[in-house]
Amino acid sequence: MQLLKDDVVLITGGGSGLGAGVARHCLAEGAQLAIMDISAAKLDNLRAELGDSPLLFRGDATKLADLQACREAIIDRFGRLNAFIGAQGIWDGNVPLRDIPLDKFDAAFDEVFHINVKSYMLTARVFIDMLDKENGAIVLTGSSGASYCADGGGLLYTATKHAILGVVRQLAFEFAPTVRVNGVAPAVIGGSQLRGPVALGLESQSQADIPKEIFQQSVDHLSPLKWMPDAEDYGPLYALLASRHSRVMTGTTVAADQGLMNRNILTPVNPGVKK
Ligand SMILES: NC(=O)c1ccc[n+]([C@@H]2O[C@H](COP(=O)([O-])OP(=O)(O)OC[C@H]3O[C@@H](n4cnc5c(N)ncnc54)[C@H](O)[C@@H]3O)[C@@H](O)[C@H]2O)c1
Repeated sequence: MQLLKDDVVLITGGGSGLGAGVARHCLAEGAQLAIMDISAAKLDNLRAELGDSPLLFRGDATKLADLQACREAIIDRFGRLNAFIGAQGIWDGNVPLRDIPLDKFDAAFDEVFHINVKSYMLTARVFIDMLDKENGAIVLTGSSGASYCADGGGLLYTATKHAILGVVRQLAFEFAPTVRVNGVAPAVIGGSQLRGPVALGLESQSQADIPKEIFQQSVDHLSPLKWMPDAEDYGPLYALLASRHSRVMTGTTVAADQGLMNRNILTPVNPGVKK
């Protein structure tokens, strides 16, 4: 059984990292895909990999006009929409509040909140009538480290990812009984290109710059499953929540954290045991 057979699924922020991995999995589950991303270069790479069958749309998910144009393109190509998966985001460079220059605070706040929170709300608003018609689903992206804990980012990132829990809950309430709204809060994602904000001059810094061994060391030290997932590994969870087969949940954000939050961080995990 393919979970998304014949469903039309929009993935925003699907150009790289998590969204691209989820897109590959949704294709394998039979979905017809529309992928929206702000980066034309990333969409070109996806076209080379996936061909022209997914609708690849360049647009900024914080901008109403771009979302409306994407909606028109989806109506032209598919005529309907069954699910919207939101995967866009930026990081804040882990900058603590006292180190954010006062003259850059407004711009940094707006940039991180617009991409990480406003774009999800606005996309849901633009597509809700189409999703209503199909008894569809929305799946948004939090972060286990930043939606539930401190130290999964700096203040701005952490506040936006906590906000996603509230967006999921409120939209699940407002959009019931027709559209289910859930979230996924991943932990680490191998292959992520998550970048920092322009407003803090960190746009050319990316999570991809952190050597994989450094990540792997902390995963080995802290994560009960001792495993760093790639983006594709989160695909089955997103596909299930986006599909008509998941009728029993709405308003829930699933912590997909490899067991990190299931422990008190005082001791390393079975230090002698290698996976
Ligand atoms: N990297 C991690 O370890 C990690 C952990 C937990 C949660 N997350 C979350 O996962 C999501 C995906 O991040 P990723 O790590 O795959 O990073 P990524 O940078 O590889 O993917 C994010 C994508 O969003 C796109 N994008 C950014 N702004 C956009 C906009 N305004 N409109 C449309 N597209 C836009 C980017 O071009 C990129 O393709 C983010 O919400 C991030 O906060 C990441």
